[in-house]
Amino acid sequence: MDTMEKITALCKRRGFIFPSSEIYGGFQGFWDYGPLGVELKNNIKCQWWKSMVYEREDVVGFDAAVIMNPTVWEKSGHLKAFTDPLVECKKCNYRFKVDSVGDKCPECGGEFTEPKTFNLMTEVLLGTTEPKEKSYLRGEITQGVFVNFENVVNSSRVKIPFGIAQVGKAFRNEITPGNFTFRSREFEQMELEYFVRPDEKESKDMFEYWKEERIKWYVSLGIKKDKLRFHEHAEGERAHYAKYATDIEYEAPFGWSEFEGIHHRGDYDLRNHGLSYKDPQTGEEFTPWVIETSGGVDRAMLFFLIDAYFEDGERIVLKLNSKIAPYKVAVFPLLANKPDLVEKARDIYHSLKETGLSITFDSRGNIGKRYFAQDEIGTPWCVTVDFETLEDKKVTVRDRDTAKQERIEVDKLVSYFQNELAK
Ligand code: GAP
Repeated sequence: MDTMEKITALCKRRGFIFPSSEIYGGFQGFWDYGPLGVELKNNIKCQWWKSMVYEREDVVGFDAAVIMNPTVWEKSGHLKAFTDPLVECKKCNYRFKVDSVGDKCPECGGEFTEPKTFNLMTEVLLGTTEPKEKSYLRGEITQGVFVNFENVVNSSRVKIPFGIAQVGKAFRNEITPGNFTFRSREFEQMELEYFVRPDEKESKDMFEYWKEERIKWYVSLGIKKDKLRFHEHAEGERAHYAKYATDIEYEAPFGWSEFEGIHHRGDYDLRNHGLSYKDPQTGEEFTPWVIETSGGVDRAMLFFLIDAYFEDGERIVLKLNSKIAPYKVAVFPLLANKPDLVEKARDIYHSLKETGLSITFDSRGNIGKRYFAQDEIGTPWCVTVDFETLEDKKVTVRDRDTAKQERIEVDKLVSYFQNELAK
């Protein structure tokens, strides 16, 4: 099996990701997140929110509706320009992105038509009376922030330069979803729209600043530095709204691939929505420029999984950073048939759970199998209660990556894990 097959199989086996509506054969481009997947995904979003909103003074959060007045999409240019050029096979009628295929159809060897453009927006019909009202599932989460720009300025004490952060679902009618969750039709984005004065130098400096900040964030959560690079967009490559753009790319098993886009959107969006800003001190009025950082949550999760995947003989280890690992600690009794040990282990499990950390309990099989199972889902620490614990009030704490074991007093476990997680 190649790495992607192994990751896909692990995700299904251990409850990270399943094909959507699998019992009916799945649905192309849609995925469901299982008990461990939702933890990993939530942890990624929480870490992002922490670094973008809580640790900063100049950013506030937002959560806009998925479906908006369709005029938003007319003004934003998405109805006209949010397109992919596709070719269609004359024999089997399959459609492909122009840049993803050669001269002949990879399905049947047939010839292609000339490229045609297809819009990526997903239409929805609302109401009960005909004709129903047409709108769209948002193709990017971004427009909800732009159309609320004045609401945020008037209701909070933000002053330029400042940012608005948002995490939420986006939908694209992708013609060729693939590479597991990499290109889906429903996915989540985590975005910052950072508003600056309309000034070439200031905006360029901010663009460079955010490029560095975002790559640092991925590295701080464990992505290997040499697997990341910037890719500057050439003239014809840029989205319709971008003055200039750089992607952060990751070297996936299927090649260097976009992780996150950093875009200089200029005044494109605010101007098209007829919005502007008045400086509260000087009274000066202008249309701010926007530097955007736009990452995919599902894509981040996939790349975190790929990057963390490690095989040591039979043993599979997900070396996930402890801040994003689905479970922080697993607690075991050494033997499942000794009530004293089980009771003590359950006491410790409950006291650790009270801290709000995500903790699991396991008493199945032998201790070796339990370590094996926790390594495979990336649990950084395992706590074992043995006969000595009943005497000396200490437990064995085993580290996932080094397999090193140390004895720690039960009373000190909470602070031990809190310290480790704060590193
Ligand atoms: N607001 C700007 C914007 O949406 P984008 O480069 O089109 O920019 C940003 O998308 C990020 O969203 C991408 O870098 C990727 O991580 C994620 N993304 C885009 N399309 C996706 C898809 N079909 N499936 C999963 N993630 C996707």
